[in-house]
Order: sequence, then structure tokens, then C-alpha cells
Amino acid sequence: MASSTVALRAGSLASFQVVERSASQTGRSAPCCSRALALKSSASSFAAPASFGVAASKRNGVMMMAAAAAEAPKPRKGAKGEIDESLLTPRFYTTDFDEMEQLFNKEINPNLNDEEFVSLLQEFAADYNQTHFVRSSEFKAAADKLEGPTRKIFVEFLERSCTAEFSGFLLYKELGRRLKKTNPVIAEIFTLMSRDEARHAGFLNKALSDFNLALDLGFLTKTRKYTFFKPKFIFYATYLSEKIGYWRYITIYRHLKENPDKQLYPIFKKFENWCQDENRHGDFFSALLKSTPQFLNDWKAKLWSRFFCLSVYVTMYLNDTQRTGFYESIGLNTRDFDMHVIIETNRTTARIFPAVLDVENPKFQQGLDRLCILNEKLLSIKRSGGNQFVQNVKLIPVIAGFASELLGLFLMRPVEAGSTDMGSSFEPSLTY
Ligand SMILES: [Fe+2]
Ligand SMILES: [Fe+2]
Repeated sequence: MASSTVALRAGSLASFQVVERSASQTGRSAPCCSRALALKSSASSFAAPASFGVAASKRNGVMMMAAAAAEAPKPRKGAKGEIDESLLTPRFYTTDFDEMEQLFNKEINPNLNDEEFVSLLQEFAADYNQTHFVRSSEFKAAADKLEGPTRKIFVEFLERSCTAEFSGFLLYKELGRRLKKTNPVIAEIFTLMSRDEARHAGFLNKALSDFNLALDLGFLTKTRKYTFFKPKFIFYATYLSEKIGYWRYITIYRHLKENPDKQLYPIFKKFENWCQDENRHGDFFSALLKSTPQFLNDWKAKLWSRFFCLSVYVTMYLNDTQRTGFYESIGLNTRDFDMHVIIETNRTTARIFPAVLDVENPKFQQGLDRLCILNEKLLSIKRSGGNQFVQNVKLIPVIAGFASELLGLFLMRPVEAGSTDMGSSFEPSLTY
């Protein structure tokens, strides 16, 4: 377990995975130009992989692709081909692409608002950040000054952030490819979003080279497990992931602008424009949700909305409180930072989700803090080693306590929210 890593984008739903399969199990074949994925000398030259192999067969209603790799792949020389996996590590996702095609078929779905998607496409095609991700000699010089634990924590931050960005790239790239015939406009938006995520991941991977490291992303594509989410869960999870990513980037950017002495590494200077990419991605998912009102307008949608909010917020809070050293190194108080991000993300999310959590109630943070304590206990039992049976017995009450705290947070009185046609004056309100 990566006990001191930091994910920039926290919406990885780590604790609440649905189904997991390795790339070879799903048969997701390797991109043919996997080496090109690992690292390029500049963000603009970051190469996207070719489409995944699609020798497909249908099993249990889920598209399964035939396995392609005959021999075990190896990471390229000098690059890291694995990341420290834990329940809280950013994941790679796959979905039911057949259902996605049905959702975005204009003959089947009358709710698709062509005009809105065409204008979103124009936004993405404008490519505002085409020349933004350019490095300077400042990067390497700043990295060389980082030593000891701070250096280690920065590397972990870069690795996890790179994995999270790359996860977005993989999913969007495949959706762009699969929806091309059914809905070319939506497909093109996905492809352009994968361009953005490739740039982000490439920029982070290039930053790792300042620390004499690199992730072999092509290798990870082939070997890492993929978490399966049905389309509606992809929408909830990805919307939240993009919006929480936006709030994290912009909060760090604004903080460091006010406290330039804490600017330990210049990647944060890039966050202002970078976060606008994430904001646009989130707005696109908001439009997708509006075009699928069945995912927003009933009691199940309300429960799922709260569930995904909870999973994303808890994942981020647990991740970050295990890595306070990183936030402290740039002058932030981890808990304050996280609560600010959670509250802002929740307010944004309330504009589209039918229900959100009452995160501004002090009891919510108190519950999060109790989860942190239980998580610490859980980790220390696991780290203690020794007899497996004894360890499991010790874990039972801790896991039960964890589950009960989670349930308590989930069952807190929710905030009734969301509307597909609300005005800008919308304010969510508590339900009774
Ligand atoms: Fe991104
Ligand atoms: Fe994004």
C-alpha cells in the first residue's frame, strides 16, 4: 500500500468498486504504440495509443473482448510498470459500450440536445490549452532542490496524479472510438477530452523525469485491473471526478498565488488553465446527464447520487489525511483544504444531481474524521503482520465500525437538489 501517496484527482471511488477485471481478463488488448504512451519530450507531442483491440464477444450483457497478449508484457527499460495498489489508488475504468451506444443514439433517445453538444464541441475544438503545457528549465532545477521526505512525497503525488489523468484518457479515448458511428458529435467530444487527459498525464509523467523516474503507461494499460461501471455510474463518478479535480487544482493554484514562497515545484503554476479543462469535462458530463433524465429523476437516482458523492469525498479525505506531509509542504492544512474542496464540489454537483450530502453540517466532517481514525487502525493492524487469523479477528470490529460510520454519513439528512432546467439562481435546500 502506498501509505504516503497523493492523488490530485480524487474521484477514484476506491472503496466502492463494483467489478474488477485485469486487462487480460477483459481482453482489453494493448495499444500498439504503448511505448509512445510512456513519455514524450513535450505535452504537445504526447502520443495517444491506437484503439484497443475489439475481438468482442457478449457475455452476461457486458461486452467482453478477447484476450490478445500471449506473453506477459514487461515495462520498458528504466520506466516503472507498476504503482503501489491499494483500495484508495486511482483506478482504470471500463463500461458497457453497447448501452452507451443506445443512450447516444438519436433515434432511440429523444432527449439528446444536439445544439448543446455542438456548442460544447466547438469549445473543445477551440483547444484553449494547446500551447499551455510547456516546460521550462525551472522544473528540473526545482526538483533538484527537493530532498528527503518532501522529494518522496512529490514523486508519489506525481505518480498518482499521472495515473488518475491517464485513467480518464483511456476511458474517453475508447468512448470516442466506440460512439463514432452512433453519435459523431459526442464521440468527437470524448476524443478531444482524451486529448486533454493525455496532455495532463504526459505533462505529469514528464515532471517525473525531473526526479529521474517515469511511468510506463502503455504497460499499465495492458496489465492493470479495470473496474467495470455501468454507464449511469460512469456518469455520476466521472462528473464528480472532473468537478472535484477542478476544485482541487484551482484551490491549490489560488493558495500558491497568494503564498509564492510555498511554490516548491512549478507544475502548480500551470493549474489555472489546466483546471479549466477539468471544468469543461465536468460540464460535458452534466450535459450527458441532462440527456439521460432517467438517471436523475427518481428515488434510485437520489440514492445513487448520494452514494457516489459519499464515495468520492471519503476516498479523497482518507487519501489526503494519510499524506498531510504533501499539503503541509505547500503550506496547506489538509483537512481545511479537503473540506473546502468537498463543500465547493458539493455545491457545484447540487446543480445537476437530484440529491447531495449535507457536507456543510459539522457532523459530516466529524464522521470523516472518525473514518480516518478507523482507517489508521485498519492499516496498523495490516502492517503489524503476524498470524493471519489473529489479524482477521482484530480487523472485524474495525471494519464493522468503518461500515457503520459510512452508513451513518450516507443516512444523514440529504440536500434535495438538482434540476435539468434550473436557472442560475438555484440554491439547494435541505429536505425534511
Ligand atoms: Fe485531466
Ligand atoms: Fe478531465
